[in-house]
Amino acid sequence: MSRPRRERRSVVAVEAIGAYVLVRVTRGSLDPGIPGQFFMLEAPGRVLPRPMSLCLAPRGELAFLLDPIGPGTRALAALEPNDRLHVFGPLGNGFRLDVERPLLVGGGIGIAPLPYLAEALEQPPAVLGFRSEHHAEAAALLPGADVVIDPVLVTDAMPGGRDVLACGPEPMLEAVRAIAPDAQLAWEAPMACGYGACYGCVVEIDGELKRLCVEGPVLCSS
Ligand SMILES: Cc1cc2nc3c(=O)[nH]c(=O)nc-3n(C[C@H](O)[C@H](O)[C@H](O)COP(=O)(O)OP(=O)(O)OC[C@H]3O[C@@H](n4cnc5c(N)ncnc54)[C@H](O)[C@@H]3O)c2cc1C
Ligand code: FES
Repeated sequence: MSRPRRERRSVVAVEAIGAYVLVRVTRGSLDPGIPGQFFMLEAPGRVLPRPMSLCLAPRGELAFLLDPIGPGTRALAALEPNDRLHVFGPLGNGFRLDVERPLLVGGGIGIAPLPYLAEALEQPPAVLGFRSEHHAEAAALLPGADVVIDPVLVTDAMPGGRDVLACGPEPMLEAVRAIAPDAQLAWEAPMACGYGACYGCVVEIDGELKRLCVEGPVLCSS
């Protein structure tokens, strides 16, 4: 497992992809880690960093797909080329890659870790769900994926008999594990530190309390 590092990196580019924003930064000495691991990104002038899954790791870069929903993510989406920001990671537990018949399942901004995961698993089939055509433009990051738009759900389009690796909103994850009990699921919680110190990310899953930043974000549901 690679050791997390905190480095001040430069923005290479900020690109709109449908309703989302892809922020590309120089990689420096940071290890991209295992798909499903995350980085804490700290926009200049903000007190708390925000957790972001690694979306892509092109040569010499790390790329993050953001949904600008609040002050932290909007500040990151407003960065410009050559701006500097602190990047800390890779953190947490990623997906297990020793699966025989992978199927990637993503909902909304939950598709963020899937392009890097798809690369590691040699482009397996994927089912992606979005709330609108505009949001679905981000499916371009996973060429060949099956795409559904609300009210059709990813669970309506999931083939059976697969090793499911999923990331998306909690109701989607619950629905996925109801039909694929062995699925690997990437969960979310607000995170202040990202390395186990603040207990801010404790969630109850199946009656057990877990610090999602160190025990997750990817958990096996069975
Ligand atoms: C491991 C991990 C990986 C993530 N990867 C990505 C990613 O690749 N791209 C991306 O856009 N987002 C990702 N997120 C979510 C992202 O970190 C939050 O959306 C962000 O921190 C919100 O900050 P904000 O200041 O913009 O909004 P805030 O004002 O902090 O939040 C806006 C609203 O979202 C809620 N919220 C905030 N954070 C979370 C959260 N983590 N889970 C559930 N609800 C939340 C708040 O309660 C509030 O209602 C990830 C989260 C985790 C834990
Ligand atoms: S984010 Fe601080 S303990 Fe998990």
